[in-house]
Amino acid sequence: MAEPVRARSDAAAELRVDGARLLDRLTDLAAVGAIDGGGVCRLALTEHDRDAREVVVAWMHDLGLDVHIDAIGNVIATRGGRRPDLAPVMCGSHIDSVRTGGKYDGTFGVLAGLEVIETLERAGISTDRAIAVAFFTDEEGARFPPDMLGSLVYAGGLDVETALDTIGIDGARLGDELARIGYGGPFPCPGPPPHAFVEVHVEQGPVLEAAGITIGAVTSVQGISWQEISVTGQSNHAGTTPMSMRHDAGHAAARIAVAVREVIAAVGRHQVGTVGSLRLQPDLVNVVAGRATLTVDLRNTDEAELRRAEELLADAVATIASDEHVEIESRSTARFEPVEFDERVIALVDDTARTLGYSVRRMPSGAGHDAQMLARVCPTGMIFVPSHKGLSHNVAEHTDPADLEAGANVLLHTLLALSTESALLDDADRGAPAQIGERES
Ligand code: GLV
Ligand code: MN
Ligand code: MN
Repeated sequence: MAEPVRARSDAAAELRVDGARLLDRLTDLAAVGAIDGGGVCRLALTEHDRDAREVVVAWMHDLGLDVHIDAIGNVIATRGGRRPDLAPVMCGSHIDSVRTGGKYDGTFGVLAGLEVIETLERAGISTDRAIAVAFFTDEEGARFPPDMLGSLVYAGGLDVETALDTIGIDGARLGDELARIGYGGPFPCPGPPPHAFVEVHVEQGPVLEAAGITIGAVTSVQGISWQEISVTGQSNHAGTTPMSMRHDAGHAAARIAVAVREVIAAVGRHQVGTVGSLRLQPDLVNVVAGRATLTVDLRNTDEAELRRAEELLADAVATIASDEHVEIESRSTARFEPVEFDERVIALVDDTARTLGYSVRRMPSGAGHDAQMLARVCPTGMIFVPSHKGLSHNVAEHTDPADLEAGANVLLHTLLALSTESALLDDADRGAPAQIGERES
């Protein structure tokens, strides 16, 4: 085990980001795909996602970064270091959103990374290791499941051909949409493992604000299980069909939604579950629904409990199919076990926040993040800042500008510490480090 990485104590220790500049970029990006209420709609690989990509890539070029796009559309921009023989330190997140997204989910992590780069540039500070800022394709998975698809491919957890063949909720093929928006790049996947990865993100939950704490040093991400459930019954006349003779897909779907709540109560503790989409066909007032399609999102910090929830739900679904005389098929669309972050990176975030004078708490993440995929290939950690009223995946998502600035300052000094030659060197000693943008030989 290496020594803990220490926050820097030299002249760079005085360095701080420019919060106003960070907020300006966040505001400009929020105009792309803006929707009523202050949020954004930038579903992955739509025109709005493309327009947002163009804005961020232009900023990357303005900062003099070396910009690479890989075969799944991940964009990685690098500021060189003094030691090109060493693997870069990477930060980043995503700029796609759910249909009713907030303006900080993901974008904060990307634009805080650019703010760190601009701060270093203006101060004339160079680093041993290069620093890379990435945005990954389709983090939300709202259009093309699973979530974190681009970072999963980057980390080698899903092969690129399979990912390109993913069919979205609108019937589109991911690879066709990627080509259509011009973001199928020449660089291979999986990508080269960075020396370390750090993602700053809004908490998206109520914990930090309720406790009056500025920074979360994220310890882990809970496991995620998504399934799409299709119910097939028989559509029939709402007035003439006796209740005992119905094959009512709508009623079966409603019972499944209630069963999800019962499963959560039975598993208890940290189990959460959501039916976020429910569609009936033909979806008319006087027709018994012949078909229903619904989604279930189950999450738990404990893998065994998550598996128990899945099993209890499968049992309930089988009972409902039999009771209601309908056929039910379940298809897994995402399944990720809980992830623990690297203790040294967690400690560095914690230590850095304290050194900068911010209150800090160690905490797990309820949401999924690109960092959980990068954790497969390098020491990884995350920095959280408070979300007002715990709202996210909601147009009213808000974080106080002072908290955004604080999170970016913690990112700056965490990256500075990790970009010194020797930090975490034992883990990085995995043979000659590939540089970002290196092509397959
Ligand atoms: C990603 O935002 C997720 O947690 O669903
Ligand atoms: Mn996010
Ligand atoms: Mn999100």
